[in-house]
Amino acid sequence: MCGIIGYIGKQKALPILLDGIKSLEYRGYDSAGVAVLDNKNGESRIYCVKSPGRISVLEEKISNQENDIGGFLGIAHTRWATHGVPNEANAHPHFDCGQKFFLVHNGIIENYKELKNSLIKNGHKFSSETDTEVITHILEDERKKNPKTPLEELTLKALKNISGTYGLAVISVEEPKKLVVVRNFSPLLVGIGDGEYIVASDASAVLKHTRQIVFLHDGEIAILTPEKHKIFNLRSESVTRKPEKIEWTEEIAKKGDFPHFTLKEIFEQPEAIENSLRGRLLPEEGLVKLGGLELVQDKLREAERIIIAACGSAYLAGRVGEYMFEEYAGIPTEVDFASELRYRKPIFRKNDVLLVVSQSGETADTLAALHEAKQKNILSIGIVNVVGSSIARETDAGVYQHIGPEIGVASTKAFTSDLSILALLSVFLGRQREMSLTMGRRIVEELEKIPHLVGQILKNKDQIFKVAKKYKSYNNFLYLGRKYNMPIAFEGALKLKEISYIHAEGYGAGEMKHGPIAMINKDFPSVVIAPSDSVYEKIISNIEEIKARRGPIIAIATEGNKEIKQIVEEVIYIPKTLEMLTPILSVIPLQLFAYYIGVLRGFDVDCPRNLAKSVTVE
Ligand code: G6P
Repeated sequence: MCGIIGYIGKQKALPILLDGIKSLEYRGYDSAGVAVLDNKNGESRIYCVKSPGRISVLEEKISNQENDIGGFLGIAHTRWATHGVPNEANAHPHFDCGQKFFLVHNGIIENYKELKNSLIKNGHKFSSETDTEVITHILEDERKKNPKTPLEELTLKALKNISGTYGLAVISVEEPKKLVVVRNFSPLLVGIGDGEYIVASDASAVLKHTRQIVFLHDGEIAILTPEKHKIFNLRSESVTRKPEKIEWTEEIAKKGDFPHFTLKEIFEQPEAIENSLRGRLLPEEGLVKLGGLELVQDKLREAERIIIAACGSAYLAGRVGEYMFEEYAGIPTEVDFASELRYRKPIFRKNDVLLVVSQSGETADTLAALHEAKQKNILSIGIVNVVGSSIARETDAGVYQHIGPEIGVASTKAFTSDLSILALLSVFLGRQREMSLTMGRRIVEELEKIPHLVGQILKNKDQIFKVAKKYKSYNNFLYLGRKYNMPIAFEGALKLKEISYIHAEGYGAGEMKHGPIAMINKDFPSVVIAPSDSVYEKIISNIEEIKARRGPIIAIATEGNKEIKQIVEEVIYIPKTLEMLTPILSVIPLQLFAYYIGVLRGFDVDCPRNLAKSVTVE
């Protein structure tokens, strides 16, 4: 979480920094700050402005300042609070007692409590509750001990005492022409311009200025002056790394006529799915073509097990993928929260394949799960949207989603794109194995129709709005589904929690009798996903059980099913498709339902409280 940016060069730093953190706002948006080193009348001074709230609030505060902040070196930060509430004091940049060292940090300092206690004992005064601030005071102590040591060496000395993860950018009044950045399990890159450098948490923040990028590795420090850059590892050995030329362009997301990005992205799904499928379907041959997997296709043929690791909605897409892979590709599949996989002792075997799913390609836990697999030497592949992101770069091979930027914090189009790509992968892997030509053709032909079918559901938005209006005041919801649609029950509940802050629980309908049914009464509605599939009869029995306890029911059912209308309060219809593809359709009304309730309750659905689009701390 948190976005960091730094600039050194010949242009005024402030506008570049503010513009940069705006493109990193998806990483956190509870507070922001900037520090710029200016030299007035031969004296260096660091101007620091911080503010709780969105970056626009910071900009307003800066525009009300009397001082013109005009220097050519600076750092900035957009925060997602870990230690300390979002307020001005806890916003970055942080500084030492003497206000000589200013820094911005992404990550977590795990041993900050002991460090802070001993620094306080030694007379340091803390101005924030953050873990980050300890680094500034350690730098101050190190300076006392090493009066002549350059900033980079001082930083390395300070970091020796620190355990945790960090992407760090440090400036000091003592060295007005130097920016020092360090990476340790928190993404950081250096954009190389003409007489200038821009460092950032991800490439989107620097592409306007340069396409030449050096991606720092964990344990590396970069020292930047306007003229040159040097990189060292933590053993102080010099590192030579050629800049990569980034060819991709950062698409600028615009809301257009939509009131929110979330709604726009929900409505973009037919096009997004089409983009994820484009050029990849071979209906005649009943095959799919995945260029990004060509180099590893022989290894994939040998795969004996797939382990899917992801977080949030991407994890839930993985749960659908498990059903698809086992039923159609015949490959044993496991799905794990990346945050669990990285800490339990997973048993990887030679022919296992790790599949990581991540829209941003930067989620810290997913990245760590990938590192775990790489250490164990098993093949890793990814489904990623953001080109050039850490996961895209570090997996052995992968499939890009091609859906454009997803801005709404609650994932919508990335989720249905994940499901579509997982279906592609089932055919890809299945046809390498036992899947028949007929079955391959069937899935490919049905997949081709999916964008159109999603569009049909979206046309029904008014009915979904009416249902949302009717149910907006309930405080609890149970979401139920079976088989392919069980993960969709979880996803539907997750959307409602994220966007409207209503307590909602997703459950496998078959498990309802083992607990959740105790909660059912007339004030506890259930959303039941009941398409006409292989478990339809079973879910109808679950519906009857809820009815018998007077629980109101909203059902998602297949067009033409009149029977269900007789037994539930509301029915939202979805078109018929293959059972394995129904999740792509059944989730659409659930997204709209959550969106409308969030709007009706008056919330900022694009940036829900406490959340961030990309979770870059574990
Ligand atoms: C955050 C977002 C979710 C997303 C999850 C995983 O929690 O709010 O919408 O599903 O991260 O993100 P990723 O970028 O790895 O898919």
